[in-house]
Amino acid sequence: MPPRRRSILITGATSGIGRALARIYAAPGFHLALTGRNQERLDAIRTECRESGADVTSASVDVRDRDKMAAWIRSVDDIRPIDLAIASAGITSGLGLGRSREDPEAVRAVFAINLIGVLNSIEPLIERMCARGSGQIAIVGSIAALRGLPYAPAYCAAKAAVHAYAESLRGTLVPQGVTVSLIVPGFVATALNKDMLTPKPLQMSDWRAARIIRRGLDRGASVIPFPRTLYYGAQLLRFLPIRWVDFMLGLAHVDIPETRERAVE
Ligand SMILES: NC(=O)c1ccc[n+]([C@@H]2O[C@H](COP(=O)([O-])OP(=O)(O)OC[C@H]3O[C@@H](n4cnc5c(N)ncnc54)[C@H](OP(=O)(O)O)[C@@H]3O)[C@@H](O)[C@H]2O)c1
Repeated sequence: MPPRRRSILITGATSGIGRALARIYAAPGFHLALTGRNQERLDAIRTECRESGADVTSASVDVRDRDKMAAWIRSVDDIRPIDLAIASAGITSGLGLGRSREDPEAVRAVFAINLIGVLNSIEPLIERMCARGSGQIAIVGSIAALRGLPYAPAYCAAKAAVHAYAESLRGTLVPQGVTVSLIVPGFVATALNKDMLTPKPLQMSDWRAARIIRRGLDRGASVIPFPRTLYYGAQLLRFLPIRWVDFMLGLAHVDIPETRERAVE
């Protein structure tokens, strides 16, 4: 039987989880709309996905550019109505040796990419999917959203906002036929966390993460957490006395490089 034709938008497709998802969906019968900023890596993944038999549209766009994102996403949707949008683009930033305060410009960059960038990636599709009475929106959050960590205030806060947003959106959109899936990864070996000095319990490859995500998306899961042990462990922290948890988290030797991204007007 021929595969069901699907049109899939993936942000952050030039690296890590987004790129692994592009690879996993690249097959005949699929149309992939891929975006990221690095043109060379975008061209490379586009070629690779085409060689695997997918139709591919790509554009180098900064997720912070609301107008450009909306124009590109709508132009793709006009021709190949998108039935799955995955907002994966994101950065990390944090504290560590000799750095006990986040640079306000870095903080704003984290929020602009990890929160506003997600809105810019999915807002252009919400009304259209609702009008069609079908579609799926997937947002990449993080286990770091479940409990504020002393070494990554902006990252944890932006991801927590995205979690609450996805949860709220689900309540509104599901009755209109649109599925909302929140993806909650633990440690995945990608460029994002390669320079972080921290224990990375149960870290997995981007390929394995993409397989888990696809399985979850295929069954329309509301939340796709992995690895589950780490996810439930992090949930448990909420039930322990705050001072204990703060103390325990403070014992870990963690150094998360500060992002080089800065706020843009
Ligand atoms: N890796 C982990 O351990 C982990 C754990 C939990 C959650 N996550 C989340 O998973 C998502 C993907 O991260 P990853 O690990 O795959 O990281 P990654 O390998 O560094 O990939 C990040 C992607 O986001 C894109 N991106 C960053 N800033 C952008 C911007 N301003 N405009 C457009 N695209 C932008 C990058 O594209 P360009 O480089 O081309 O700009 C790249 O394709 C992120 O939301 C991250 O927070 C990751």
